Amino acid sequence: MGLAGKRIILGITGSIAAYKSAFLTRLLIKEGAEVQVILSASALDFISPLTLATLSKRPALHQFQKDETGVWNNHVELGLWADLMLFAPLSANTLAKMANGHCDNLLLATYLSARCPVWFAPAMDLDMYQHPSVRKNIQTLQSFGNRLLDAESGELASGLSGQGRMMEPESIVKEIKGFFESGQDFKGKKIGLTIGPTQEAIDPVRFISNHSSGKMGYALAEAFLERGAEVWVISGPISIPVSKDKFHWKDVHSAQEMFEAAQDIHEKMDVMVFAAAVADYAPAEVAPEKIKKQGDSLQIHLKKNVDIAQELGKQKKPNQIHVGFALETENEKEHAVDKLNRKNFDLIVLNSMKEKGAGFRLDTNRVSIFSKNGQVVESEISPKKEIAGMILDQIKKESSWTLV
Ligand code: CTP
Repeated sequence: MGLAGKRIILGITGSIAAYKSAFLTRLLIKEGAEVQVILSASALDFISPLTLATLSKRPALHQFQKDETGVWNNHVELGLWADLMLFAPLSANTLAKMANGHCDNLLLATYLSARCPVWFAPAMDLDMYQHPSVRKNIQTLQSFGNRLLDAESGELASGLSGQGRMMEPESIVKEIKGFFESGQDFKGKKIGLTIGPTQEAIDPVRFISNHSSGKMGYALAEAFLERGAEVWVISGPISIPVSKDKFHWKDVHSAQEMFEAAQDIHEKMDVMVFAAAVADYAPAEVAPEKIKKQGDSLQIHLKKNVDIAQELGKQKKPNQIHVGFALETENEKEHAVDKLNRKNFDLIVLNSMKEKGAGFRLDTNRVSIFSKNGQVVESEISPKKEIAGMILDQIKKESSWTLV
């Protein structure tokens, strides 16, 4: 059961090799994976959804619409659900559409929404496989970060012999197992994260909050999960698309609620990451009814919130690692290092507000990571997912665990 708990979207397109996808589905299920089959329209000429639905134990999808009533198969949800999206077999036609951003069926829409690694196993006749346009499209997909499972040589359906056969299902499953096993360097570790902003109520309809989107925190949560950890997320109100069921997920609003949720899990965590932008102050009293407009000014008395990172920093055990974030607009390094010491962090990740392409709401970031022994690691402006990977690498260096 080397793929237990792994979620795989198997995209099947119009090629005679589609008959092998039934066997591939069976092998993946046998290894413990959850498999969601999505077919292109021309795949239906080669294999029946009934076969695939029976083997995968889930409906095999091929249309945007579930039935006549207009209920639709949500490609964004599917794209978020998967740990891996695999096209096997991939026809020259769907390959060309993927390379050019076409979106005329559910499979292509899911491809465009997928956040997970995407692999493709082409299958076509030997001359097609060598055609410059096919070669170019394969390269384009590779430039997107998609991984080619190269076609094998042998006898082809046309009667000709050469390269173009889809990689054998056993070999594909072996590659997938190797991939999931090799990246599992946080396996067995328990990770807690606070992410997003907090909302501090003024009255039943108003609150104090900030611009945090939760993107960096969520990218970290996903990175830990991909590398084998069990992840607890305590999230303030965020509106980015997330897949909560992959995590132990707790939604909170105020700093106090976030503190209580973090306190509940803290003791059993190996790593706590404080990525939330917690409001430092909250209204001293929440008005029970909506505050009506009166006079030319209004004063709201604020009281200091609990500092979650600092409080839990006092309870930190020697084998636990705490990671904090700092967002500064002046004397950045001094403030970050001061927070590192004050809050008993092992690492602090400094975001600069001055940097173009870094900070709130963006998909990219630029950070400096300071460790308590004075080391500094600086990133380029990079996607938050890459920054997350870099932070995990630093956590690993900081730890005394023997990780795989
Ligand atoms: N933090 C926290 N609880 C708070 C405030 C901050 O857990 N009430 C955590 C944040 O999640 C972050 C780190 O502490 O990891 C630093 O947050 P920041 O807001 O920069 O620190 P403050 O101590 O609030 O300092 P400042 O005066 O710059 O606002």
